[in-house]
Amino acid sequence: MIKAIIFDLDGVIVDTARFHFLAWKKLAQEMGIPFNEHDNERLKGVSRMQSLDILLGLGKVKLAKDRREALATRKNEWFVDYVESMKPGDVYRGVPELIVALKKGKYKIGLASSSKNAPRVVQLLGIEKKFDTIVDGSMIIDTKPDPEIFLLTAQRLNVDPSACVVFEDAEAGVEAAKRAGMKCVGVGSAVQLGKADLVIAKTADFQLELLNKW
Ligand code: G6P
Ligand code: MG
Repeated sequence: MIKAIIFDLDGVIVDTARFHFLAWKKLAQEMGIPFNEHDNERLKGVSRMQSLDILLGLGKVKLAKDRREALATRKNEWFVDYVESMKPGDVYRGVPELIVALKKGKYKIGLASSSKNAPRVVQLLGIEKKFDTIVDGSMIIDTKPDPEIFLLTAQRLNVDPSACVVFEDAEAGVEAAKRAGMKCVGVGSAVQLGKADLVIAKTADFQLELLNKW
């Protein structure tokens, strides 16, 4: 029986996935590395430094640690600039209603984001109180596709992993959820998210009745 719903943040609750892409794209352009939305799929859900390493790998660029750290900081500054313009109305349409309906159904609600900016994003959106627990990138050692973040979220919700459903827009996130022994709803395209138990185009498309069947 499903007892908890765990949401990813970027690309599931709000369109910050776009901001991550724009910031990485700017860095790639500066460095002369070809980078498009298809390449960006590999960066979704993974940590900032791992994302940078994937980007540098695309350009076959090798750099010392301090230089890589400086580039990651630069990307983050651009990302934070985009984020600071966000307001409560930017939450994806239908998501607040979905959370209200889930709470009515007595499901526990968690947020599990690899982003260290997640606390600031939820604060700007005014949604921090909607979650029974929030786990972000600063609280884990291994990011998605490792299951650590989802297992920690389930533990904090005091729910067995097998009773959790994860909403994810990243291939790495779907893999992490499945490795955690959870059900997974992919939000986006079945091309990238085919390993999920169900793929929907938008978070708000989810039909609650399905939870009784899982
Ligand atoms: C999320 C996003 C990734 C991002 C990661 C780290 O998982 O999907 O694209 O790289 O968080 O975000 P941060 O804000 O800590 O750089
Ligand atoms: Mg995401």
